[in-house]
Amino acid sequence: MSASTDPPRRLTVADIAKRYGDGERLPMLTAYDYPTAQTLDEAGIPLLLVGDSLGQVLLGYESTVRVTMTEMLHHTKAVVRGSQRAMVIGDMPFLTYSTVDEALENAGRFLQEAGAQAVKIEGGVRSARVIEAMVKAGIPVQGHIGWTPQAQLGMGGKVKVQGKDRSQARSLLADALAVQEAGAFSIVLELMPAQLATAITERLRIPTIGIGAGPGCSGQVQVITDLLGLGDFVPRHARPYAQLRTTIGEAARAYAADVAAGAFPGDAETVRMDDAVLDEALGRGESDRAGASIPVGGIPLDRDL
Ligand code: KIV
Repeated sequence: MSASTDPPRRLTVADIAKRYGDGERLPMLTAYDYPTAQTLDEAGIPLLLVGDSLGQVLLGYESTVRVTMTEMLHHTKAVVRGSQRAMVIGDMPFLTYSTVDEALENAGRFLQEAGAQAVKIEGGVRSARVIEAMVKAGIPVQGHIGWTPQAQLGMGGKVKVQGKDRSQARSLLADALAVQEAGAFSIVLELMPAQLATAITERLRIPTIGIGAGPGCSGQVQVITDLLGLGDFVPRHARPYAQLRTTIGEAARAYAADVAAGAFPGDAETVRMDDAVLDEALGRGESDRAGASIPVGGIPLDRDL
């Protein structure tokens, strides 16, 4: 049997539902740029979230509240260009989905201008009406409940596990059901006790994607800089699978040392030309060339010029 020559195609909501139905655990990662999206897509990650965590981990803002539509669209376009198979989910920034009209307009921009296949919005019961309107308009929506960073200021300012007491646990369950009934194709559960996330997962027909919510979710999501060891701190729920901050620092120091020592560029990184052609260009004879051979790593000024 010959290998398929079909061009790669994007995963759809139906593909995600099928994988979930088949009992596959779904890995999702954030991505914000072209080379990372290419690498994650090649690694077979099915869901790429252009998270508004962009604001903190890539742009250096103190919270996600500062992130704008312009920034999100810019990065979503890069992730879409870099990937061929993954479903790209654009995270709708703070105050861009407060009303149905705003939500439809801004979600439409993620799909039409940036090429995303879905959007994510925060909030359970409070966002259900907006989710329903978007789904009716044909926009695949991922929900997000538990710790919802855009509401950080209203939630006491400090990152905190949600749902530890009875009333919070009940309202998170109600949130999850509201998001499902509104038509979301999946839901992120962020920072909640593992038993609660498992109980929510068991009660839903759509996949739950956990972050700091224990192993009982249908899938997991991590912020790519946490996964790669590139951030300036490691959240408790994250496991760095690489130490890129150390690797990049070592590479930068080695490069600087080579430049200082004249060891970069070397032969392998240097282009040379026919000496006779240069003699012609400089109007000098071959004999003038003696001693003027170009040392690797430096281009001497010609003494005849
Ligand atoms: O913005 C983000 O990265 C997120 C994930 C943590 C789910 O919302």
